[in-house]
Amino acid sequence: MHNYEKVISFDDINMEEYSKQLEYFNNYYGSPFRKEQGTEEILDVINKYSKDGTLIDFGSGSNIYFWLTAFKNIQNVMCVDISKEAFYINEQIRKKELYPQSCEYALNKYNKDFDNVLKTNVNYLIYDILKFSVGMTLKFDNVTQFGLLGLCKNEKEYTSNLKKLYSLVNKDGVLIGANWCFSESYSDKMSFNNKYLSEQLINSFAKINNCTVLFNKLIPIKNDRNYKSVLVYVLKK
Ligand SMILES: C[S@@+](CC[C@H](N)C(=O)[O-])C[C@H]1O[C@@H](n2cnc3c(N)ncnc32)[C@H](O)[C@@H]1O
Repeated sequence: MHNYEKVISFDDINMEEYSKQLEYFNNYYGSPFRKEQGTEEILDVINKYSKDGTLIDFGSGSNIYFWLTAFKNIQNVMCVDISKEAFYINEQIRKKELYPQSCEYALNKYNKDFDNVLKTNVNYLIYDILKFSVGMTLKFDNVTQFGLLGLCKNEKEYTSNLKKLYSLVNKDGVLIGANWCFSESYSDKMSFNNKYLSEQLINSFAKINNCTVLFNKLIPIKNDRNYKSVLVYVLKK
């Protein structure tokens, strides 16, 4: 993670991975906003607790412009992911070749203009954060992960990765996280479960690492076969 300012090239996009990422985009944030999926709460948490300044978003995928609609004043964003093709979708959004329709909800709610959101300075880093150490001395006012750490196999892996991300938070900065809890049927289908996700897990992490919990709630998700709830939290340094 040393060359975090390196500009990545989109000349060698893998079309198979791109199709997968595009399907995800079309099914979720490219579609009209769906209520009662926990997203209203995540956006409100961002709007209420985020800090003005810098942001690093882990497991960022193709969704940075969606979440940015809820932040108030971010000057610089670093997106970290293993998928260059997901970042390419962001570039298509920036160039107005694609439009995340679900943004309408947050744009109206927070009185934002999408053209201004698109002017935010966004940089990209391809990095496998779950496998490697952080290796970065720079700190950020906001560190976020939406949907990344819930892919960890167990509580131990989750906490050690959360610790890595937390080490990048500036003094008085925040770490905002959201992790979707797999339903029984989805766990069976994927041969994976993240039953370890709980408010208690976050409270114990905060106690051990001496951080203030500003928000910590397991929010139920309605009418979704794959996810039953989403764990949303804000930790302040
Ligand atoms: C469920 S998606 C969430 C994407 C986005 N944050 C959002 O809110 O829609 C999980 C993302 O994590 C990325 N990812 C998975 N494993 C990763 C890893 N080891 N390091 C960095 N990113 C990873 C995937 O490529 C994917 O974009």
